[in-house]
Amino acid sequence: MSQTEWIQRGKNVIMHTYNSFPVILKNGDGMYVWDENGKKYLDFVSGIAVNSLGYKHRTYIDQLTKQIEKLTHCSNLYWNMSNIELAELLIENSGFDKVFFCNSGTEAVEAALKLSRKYGKLVHGRECIQIITMKQSFHGRTFGAITATGQEKYHKGLSPMLPGISYAPFNDFAGLKQMVTEKTCAIMLEPIQGEGGIRPVEKEFLQNVRNLCTEKNIILIFDEVQSGIGRTGKLFAYEYYDVQPDVITLAKGLGGGFPIGAMMAVERVAKAFLPGDHASTFGGNPLASTAAKTVLTEIFEQNLLSNVTEQGNYLKERLLQLQEISKEIIDIRGVGLMLGMEMTIQVAPIIQKCMERGLLLISAGSHVIRFVPPLICQKDDIDAAILILQDVLGEE
Ligand SMILES: Cc1ncc(COP(=O)(O)O)c(C=O)c1O
Repeated sequence: MSQTEWIQRGKNVIMHTYNSFPVILKNGDGMYVWDENGKKYLDFVSGIAVNSLGYKHRTYIDQLTKQIEKLTHCSNLYWNMSNIELAELLIENSGFDKVFFCNSGTEAVEAALKLSRKYGKLVHGRECIQIITMKQSFHGRTFGAITATGQEKYHKGLSPMLPGISYAPFNDFAGLKQMVTEKTCAIMLEPIQGEGGIRPVEKEFLQNVRNLCTEKNIILIFDEVQSGIGRTGKLFAYEYYDVQPDVITLAKGLGGGFPIGAMMAVERVAKAFLPGDHASTFGGNPLASTAAKTVLTEIFEQNLLSNVTEQGNYLKERLLQLQEISKEIIDIRGVGLMLGMEMTIQVAPIIQKCMERGLLLISAGSHVIRFVPPLICQKDDIDAAILILQDVLGEE
C-alpha cells in the first residue's frame, strides 16, 4: 500500500485536529528519520522538542526493554522504584522538594493550576483564586491550560473559559503589577515562550516578578514543558536568570519520546496538596519513569548540556550569517537548541521546501522558524541543515 493510500486510511478514521504533512515516518536513527518511501530526513524538530536523545539510542532502548520485561504499569496504589529514583534525580538537580508525575505538558500545567488555587485559598482565604499568565503564552490544550494560554485564537468556540485567569503583557513589569490584587494566587510564565515565537523573558522583568511574588506570597510558576530538561544548555532555563520559581512544569524532552510530565514544587507549596486532591492513573508509571531516568542520566553522563551550549552557539552563528545575506530574516533569538528565526514572510512554504529536500523544521507562529533538534546534534548536522535552508532561502 502506498504512502498516499495509508494517509487516506488515516483521514477516514482519525479526527481532523492536525494538518499533518503528507508523510508517514517509519523509523529513525540518531539525527535522522525515514519515511514510508525510504526518503531520509535530517530532524530539527525532534517530535516538537521531545526526542532529546535522537532516535534508536542504544542505552534508551536497553533500559526500556529491561523495564518492559519487569513491569510496565502498576498505578499509584503501589510504590515503584523507577519513579522514586526519577523523583530523586529531579529534586537533587533542582531547587524543588516534591514531584507530581503525569503524562503530558498540559496535565503538568493543570496540576500547577490546581495546586496554586489550593495554596491561595489555604493561605489567603477562599477568594484567592486569580491566576495571571502572559500574553502570547502557550500552556496546553486541556480546559485549564488552554484558558491559561494567552492567545485568543486557541479560545475560539470554547467559551466560557475557566474563570479567574487573566493575561499580562510579557516583559512589562508595570503592566503586570497593576493586575495583581489580594485575590492573586499565582503568576505563570514560560522563561522562553515556545509556541508564541521563541521569545525569551527579560532578566530584570523576571527578577521583579520574583520579588513581587515573594513580597505578596504569590506562587511563581515556570512552565518549562518546552525549555526544560537540557534544551537551553542548562537543565532548566530558569538557571540563566538567577531566579528560582516555586513551581515548575515539565514534559516533552523529559521522556525522550515516551509520554511523561511532571510538576515540581517547593515544600511550602507542595504541602497544599493532600491525599485525594490530585491523581493520574498512569502518572509516573515504571516504564515512563525509566525513560525519563535514562534521559536525565544520559544528559549528565554524556555532558549533553555543554554539547547543547556549544552546538546552540554554532547554530546561532550560522543563522546570523544567513541573516546577513537574506533581507527576509529580521531576528534570531533563543538559547541553546531552542532557537527561532523571525522572517518578514510566512515561513510555511520555506518549511515545506526544506522538507522536500530532506530537512525537518517547525514554525512557532506564522513568521518564525523554530530549531529544536535532538540534544545530541553535532556541527555536521548543523552544516547540513544550513546548506538546505540557505538553498531554499536563495529561491525566495
Ligand atoms: C510551554 C508549554 N506548555 C505546555 C505545553 C503542552 O504540552 P503537551 O502538548 O504535552 O500537553 C506545551 C506544548 O507545546 C508547551 O510548549
